[in-house]
Amino acid sequence: MSVKLFSSLEIGSVSVPNRIAIAPMCQYSASDGTVNEWHLQHWMNMAMSGSGLVMIEATGVERIGRITHGCVGLYNDLNEREMKRVLDSAKAVALPGTKFGIQLGHAGRKASSMVPWLGGMACKKEDDAWQTVSSSAIPFTQGWPVPEVLDDKGIERIIQAFADAAVRAVRVGFEVLEIHMTHGYLVHQFLSPLSNTRTDHWGGTPEKRQRFGLEVARAVRAAVPKSIAVGGRIAGFDWVEGGITLDDAVDFTKKLKAAEMDYVCVSSGGIDPTAKIAVGPSYQVPFAREIKKQTGIVTRAVGMIVTPVQAEEILQTGDADQIALGRCILDNPRWGWHAADVLGVDLPRPPQYDRARAKLWPGSKLARDIA
Ligand SMILES: Cc1cc2nc3c(=O)[nH]c(=O)nc-3n(C[C@H](O)[C@H](O)[C@H](O)COP(=O)(O)O)c2cc1C
Repeated sequence: MSVKLFSSLEIGSVSVPNRIAIAPMCQYSASDGTVNEWHLQHWMNMAMSGSGLVMIEATGVERIGRITHGCVGLYNDLNEREMKRVLDSAKAVALPGTKFGIQLGHAGRKASSMVPWLGGMACKKEDDAWQTVSSSAIPFTQGWPVPEVLDDKGIERIIQAFADAAVRAVRVGFEVLEIHMTHGYLVHQFLSPLSNTRTDHWGGTPEKRQRFGLEVARAVRAAVPKSIAVGGRIAGFDWVEGGITLDDAVDFTKKLKAAEMDYVCVSSGGIDPTAKIAVGPSYQVPFAREIKKQTGIVTRAVGMIVTPVQAEEILQTGDADQIALGRCILDNPRWGWHAADVLGVDLPRPPQYDRARAKLWPGSKLARDIA
């Protein structure tokens, strides 16, 4: 049986050399949205990791859409210029065929929060807090500020900001654009009945709650050439009574597909911090499986996918077309190299590091548990 993890995949017009994606992961290290030397080393490292697709962290499409003061943004010329400098450097050392994508998002009522290592709570006035916005005047949870309700004009502004950031992202050199539609951020705040209690044309029925996300999807798709893959990261489940169900996720994905989205990445949770999420190995894969089965869209699975054999099984069973890795890549940025060794695939490494290959370095057997 051929190894699926290291087979290529077509996502819209973009061909990725293998099925490993690096999940978008906030680094909370930017200044007013602008990336710096931290991102330079991080992206360069990820570029060499053996992952076919490197997804860059949630990137605010407007300044107030960043999660924290340290989050990346793509709303001004300086953001764009520095991002291009850093991406060009990452591309210069990337393994052949590696593709780069970026997640575009707006944090809505979860914006203006502290970075995790400073507690992750809502910023206070002395932390330079800003006014947040959302679909309804419902705070994220107790102790968080009440967001301002977006009116038609505000909603249109943000849809346009997504399209503008998408154009910037293409100029920077990304080939995959992912709209952040889960984890309790703004699109999710419109989608979920727990956070959207509007009764106008942006809420009240499932179709109206979906409208914002779909309009963002259409605006981004229309703003960039067909050579760019566009997709969404969605919630397969809210894990809380009255929230989004898997059926809702399937229905939404069908509409995303009709809006010419090329793929979905199926995550879950984040709309309510009290939700009880059953975290365990491959815990979100059943959502991906059902969404792929019912919609036929290119589907990426994520969440506690840790070992090469586990990743390969998810692909072999057809539960997903691609897998994304989060924390285990932070722990081991060479995951792809080691996975290739485990699965018996000859993955190229940078020649400068070739002497550490299992077949050339006997110490690898001691360092890692491989035959
Ligand atoms: C440090 C960190 C930052 C994250 N930032 C983002 C983000 O920017 N966008 C997003 O959709 N998910 C984000 N996530 C979630 C990951 O993309 C991923 O879905 C999650 O960690 C589960 O995968 P894992 O078990 O492989 O880590 C983040 C996770 C971590 C650990």
